[in-house]
Amino acid sequence: MPLKFFISAFLFCSIFFTVSAQQKTWSNKVDSVLHLMTLEEKIGQLNQYTDDLTLTGPATVDNDKASQIKNGQVGSLLNSLGTTRVRSWQTMAMQSRLKIPLLFGQDVIHGYKTTFPIPLAEAASWDMDAIELSARIAATEASASGINWTFAPMVDIARDPRWGRVMEGAGEDTYLGSLIAKARVTGFQGKKLGGLDAVMACVKHFAAYGAAVGGRDYNSVDMSERQLWEVYLPPFKAALDAGAATFMNSFNDVNGIPATGNAYLQRTILKGKWNFTGFVVSDWGSIGEMVNHGYVKNDYEAALSAIRAGSDMDMESRSYKNNLAKLVKDNKIPVSLIDDAVKRILLKKFELGLFDDPFRFCNTTREQQALNNAAHVKAARAIAAKSIVLLKNENHLLPLSKSTKTIAFIGPLVKPLLQNKGFWDVTIPGVDSNFIVSQWKGLQNKVGASSTLLYAKGCDIEGDNKAGFAEAIAIAKQADVVILSIGEKRDMSGEAKSRSNINIPGVQEDLLKELLATGKPVVVLINAGRPLVFNYTADHAPAILYTWWLGSEAGNAIADVLFGDVNPSAKLPMTFPLSVGQVPIYYNHFNTGRPATNDNNHIYNSSYTDLSIFPKYAFGYGLSYTDFKYSDLKISKNKMTAKDQIDVAVTITNTGKYDGEEVVQLYLHNKVASVVRPIKELKDFQKIQIATGASKTIHFQINAQKLSFYNQQLAWVTEPGDFELMIGSSSADIRLKTEFELVK
Ligand code: BGC
Repeated sequence: MPLKFFISAFLFCSIFFTVSAQQKTWSNKVDSVLHLMTLEEKIGQLNQYTDDLTLTGPATVDNDKASQIKNGQVGSLLNSLGTTRVRSWQTMAMQSRLKIPLLFGQDVIHGYKTTFPIPLAEAASWDMDAIELSARIAATEASASGINWTFAPMVDIARDPRWGRVMEGAGEDTYLGSLIAKARVTGFQGKKLGGLDAVMACVKHFAAYGAAVGGRDYNSVDMSERQLWEVYLPPFKAALDAGAATFMNSFNDVNGIPATGNAYLQRTILKGKWNFTGFVVSDWGSIGEMVNHGYVKNDYEAALSAIRAGSDMDMESRSYKNNLAKLVKDNKIPVSLIDDAVKRILLKKFELGLFDDPFRFCNTTREQQALNNAAHVKAARAIAAKSIVLLKNENHLLPLSKSTKTIAFIGPLVKPLLQNKGFWDVTIPGVDSNFIVSQWKGLQNKVGASSTLLYAKGCDIEGDNKAGFAEAIAIAKQADVVILSIGEKRDMSGEAKSRSNINIPGVQEDLLKELLATGKPVVVLINAGRPLVFNYTADHAPAILYTWWLGSEAGNAIADVLFGDVNPSAKLPMTFPLSVGQVPIYYNHFNTGRPATNDNNHIYNSSYTDLSIFPKYAFGYGLSYTDFKYSDLKISKNKMTAKDQIDVAVTITNTGKYDGEEVVQLYLHNKVASVVRPIKELKDFQKIQIATGASKTIHFQINAQKLSFYNQQLAWVTEPGDFELMIGSSSADIRLKTEFELVK
């Protein structure tokens, strides 16, 4: 055997044996702890409460948490922030008979102290390194602040912008969503669990929560098995393959069975077919809520259903605490079922090193350092800028010149601080939440002393008060350029924030109309947690940046893009509808038997008589200050077998005036198959940097995995046939096409 191979084989074997030896040691340790536990203590490990400091769900009054912790009746707390507070709870756990440490969970969704763009915005970056880095930094800060476990990433595919939680995911696409799921899990968990800067990821919400009927939060989901497997499950599998330590189930029912009591999802798929060895936490109160679903009669039955179905930890419903012992006594469940759940939880406590030192995440000096790290702030600014989508830029109005004499910055979102954080931010006691650069401050930081900056609020986000219009118009008239910052409030999207009206609220677009009437060039910033409908703005404003909620560095990042220090490169991760009447709308739909191809004819085809079928902005859309030409699409062959590969080459040239980045997207269409296939599906992409005037040839590989799908029997197969290959700058802007055949 050549030495090189010998060394790698040796390394592989020793790593493998070290890992499995380690697992064995942990498993022995888990067994030895389990052996000492009473049934009540075991049930305690499955019980999770919120700290009363913050509530992220309906509160249950419980003044007895401290004594329950001291009695070993609680396994985990959520919403406890900061080393001091975490230490005080952990000290109580250390007074329990077996001194089993508590796990501290928290929704660290888009940053901890340093706040990053909301996940949907960050998904627009299509930049996996950036996304992983933001999760890495969030984990570094949170773990230094006592947290062991984040309830993220949310990997629910979402095709309905009315659903408030679209802000928390990666959008509508399964392929992009799967890559992002992996990047986030890798970022949160770092090199390995047990590292002082790692937190456990919790992949949520298992499963299909994003398909809630009507976009109403917590609503039912009715979905075919094929859609479940093909569209909704892959991001969960990708997160699992990336090593995700835990899963959270969901509030919704799937085809009539609540996810929390769903043995098919949790036992057959997750713990069976996928061999998941971590544990599943319920969503807040979702075990008890099975009574409301009408799936079980009472809390006793709810606990029975959940534990049988594979829900290991009960977040906040107290169903396990109040019923599991009786269920054992009544011979409804064997203790082994409880043991399995306890072992899964204890294993993670061992892996995190909490048994070695329950206070290892409670070092105040480390906390101070992690929460005041200039490198984190720098990364937040860069990632925020990467997430801004340039939707329109008539006559190259943007970027603005830094020596523009007079700039009027108008709108209800120019000066507020907290708004920039978006939903699911974290408020750490005693930590300054003014650590946010407002949009106003960002502009001030950017322009030189020779520029005059004028400000007017103009109007509120909501309501019909136009009293501020006159002042706004007056300053617009004095300016060379107007920047108008409008949109949603930060908490108009998020959990329990579904909306039937997703237009820009209030009189904000009326204000734009008045400002445009001054004849001044107006750049519009749209701040939101979801795709909004803003047709007046889209049709009349000369330049639009979709700025979402960008986090603590929002102001600086927006200024970086406005003035061209960063050339925008983001692409929409969700389709933006023309009207809420089109929802759900997504790019990878079927063709139907009567496809509509244009808006002029809606007789006997699949269209609306009163509305276009086309979205306002397509999935994958986003402009740059420069232009890219696509040319020379070449495939290495036009026939392949399932064992072969085709190499795809395409050349991209930066024909504009600025250096820039382009997301080159590869879509496939399986033209005829034994089950109908979408008109196109994203199967690959590359984000490339190209200097002005330069060209780059990039390559993609087509292999069987990219051509496979679930057939009628739900087997993952390839079928011989013709495929259309499309290379585009968005799902609707296909620049080059070719075809190839998959043969036997
Ligand atoms: C949400 C979860 C969240 C949990 C804890 C629930 O209401 O659905 O996503 O992790 O609360 O805050």
